[in-house]
Amino acid sequence: MEKEQNTQMSFYYKDGYLYCEKLRVKDIQEQVSYSPFYLYSFAQLEQNYAAYQNALSGINAIIGYAVKANNNLTLLKRLNELGSGAVLVSGNELKLSLAAGFDLKRTILNGNGKTLEELSLAVEHEVLINIDSEFDLRHIQQTAKQLDIPANVLIRINPDVDPEVHPYVSTGMKNSKFGIRNERLNWFLDEIRKDDLLTLVGVHCHLGSTIKKVRIFRDATEIMLDFIRSIQAEGFSAQYLNIGGGLGIDYERTGEDIPTPKDLIDSIRGLLTDDITLIIEPGRSIIGNTAVFVNRVTGVKTNGNKHFIVTDGSMAELIRPSLYDTYQHIEFIEPVDGKVDTFDVVGPVCESADFLGKERELPTPPEGTGLVVCDAGAYCHTMSSNYNLKMSPPEYLVDGDKLTCIRRVETLDDYMRVFDV
Ligand code: LLP
Repeated sequence: MEKEQNTQMSFYYKDGYLYCEKLRVKDIQEQVSYSPFYLYSFAQLEQNYAAYQNALSGINAIIGYAVKANNNLTLLKRLNELGSGAVLVSGNELKLSLAAGFDLKRTILNGNGKTLEELSLAVEHEVLINIDSEFDLRHIQQTAKQLDIPANVLIRINPDVDPEVHPYVSTGMKNSKFGIRNERLNWFLDEIRKDDLLTLVGVHCHLGSTIKKVRIFRDATEIMLDFIRSIQAEGFSAQYLNIGGGLGIDYERTGEDIPTPKDLIDSIRGLLTDDITLIIEPGRSIIGNTAVFVNRVTGVKTNGNKHFIVTDGSMAELIRPSLYDTYQHIEFIEPVDGKVDTFDVVGPVCESADFLGKERELPTPPEGTGLVVCDAGAYCHTMSSNYNLKMSPPEYLVDGDKLTCIRRVETLDDYMRVFDV
């Protein structure tokens, strides 16, 4: 079976050095004046997007890239050029997607707490809007009426299929803060039917993130298709089946069989009929493995029976290991032949939650050695903070043998500006 997503040739080792496409990461590190930074491969992005496109061949479908995973403007522009739609969770993501050139009629606004301002923007730009609750429907109705502009809506349903992931990234169970109470579906249908400005175009769900079994998507798709059929039986011509995002990637690198987009789509292909347009909202599986987070080792120390590698990157720039206790692979970008030990890789931030990796077997590196946290494209830069007054790191993109800065480092002057009140 083809394994498009898991064959990652954009980052590879040659003579002990890490390469990104045609460039040696150590050379890039020497050229870039700031550390840490994020480094992306365009070839990997193209490959990941193509994996979804190929998987969906023969199916009426929209790929809606989940902007929350990574909102770098250059990457969004490139995704738009590749043909992607966009999935939004805020008014600012809507504005950024507009700047990136996305056709907003092919975008979807999600969220359990959309504000009236955000809904106005969405209605004005004819974005598809997911109804999340009774109050959300009321707000959408109020907005459409006030602007006197019709709105196309989907209903977010919780299929209550366990995604088998960390509880913080499980979003489609019946006790979730997202979506409607399924028992209230007919009430929603009646309200929409009565409203001349609203058109119900489909149903939406999002089970969770980092899902590693296609059976979970298939079970949910069956449930969602039952909902769509009963909605159609009520006289609505609902056409969109939005199954959300959530496909996991191979963070752990244990050789575990992670499903590809093709595995996912093949598992549901037989359930789909010609009257259905499938919407899929991948974030991580499009952008996750396109980047590494490049650090320099500040020093090595030992306390009690623990050894630490201290890097200049931290939980401020990459919080996933601290927040979800997740594993992201860590390696050096150059040959290191010091004594092999078990290290916690930690940043300089003043709290013990600040680590990038725990208990890693690594050779003892000299100061200044380059070190990367892998698979850093999704939910890393977007979740970075200014904690300890660390600045939002710069981002660089490699395309073949070309290196481009696609986001400059935030400076203290940028930060100080918010106090000009
Ligand atoms: N659609 C909706 C409605 C979502 O809430 C999400 C992500 C996605 C699509 C994209 O899911 P993906 O394909 O990227 O799994 N910060 C966490 C992930 C939170 C994801 C929340 N929802 C992490 O770092 O793992």
